[in-house]
Amino acid sequence: MLPTWAQVSPERRSHIERVAGLIGEWADAMQVAERERGRWVKAAYLHDALRDAPFPLADYLAHGPAAADRAASEGETDQGILDAVRYHTVGYAGWDDVGRMLYLADFLDPGRRFGADERRALAQRVPQERDTVLKEVVRWRIEWVVRSGWPLAPETVGLWNALASR
Ligand SMILES: [Fe+2]
Repeated sequence: MLPTWAQVSPERRSHIERVAGLIGEWADAMQVAERERGRWVKAAYLHDALRDAPFPLADYLAHGPAAADRAASEGETDQGILDAVRYHTVGYAGWDDVGRMLYLADFLDPGRRFGADERRALAQRVPQERDTVLKEVVRWRIEWVVRSGWPLAPETVGLWNALASR
C-alpha cells in the first residue's frame, strides 16, 4: 500500500503498482520468505511516494532521500528498505536484496516504453541470475548518463565497482 503521506499523480501510482507487482512476481519465483517479500513490496510502494511532491521534493535526485527520510520519521527502521528508497535513482554498493530488487523493478517496469523487448528479456532472467542482470542494467544506465554528458553520482560508480570486481 502507498503510505498516507504519498503525493503521486495517477500515472505515478500506476508505475508504483507495476513495480510492486513485478517485485512480487520475482519474490514468488525466487521463493523468498513471506517477510522478505514484504520488505521488497514495501520498498516499491515507498520509493516514488514523494516523486510528485512540490519542488524541491520533486527534484529527480531529491525524491528518494526525501521519501527515505519521511519513512524513517514515520517509524520505518529497516535499514535495507530505507537504503533501497534513498538510493533508488543512483544505486548503492551497500544495498541488500531490497535495494537490488527495487532498482531492477523500477528500471524494468513493463510500462516504460523504451527498449521494451530488451527490458522484458532482462526481467524474465532476474529470478535465475539477479546479479548478472543487475550488472547489465547498471551498465545500461551508466552509458546513458555518460552519453548525456551528465556527471556520474559517486554512489553509481561505487555500485558499478562492487559489481565489476566479481
Ligand atoms: Fe520508480
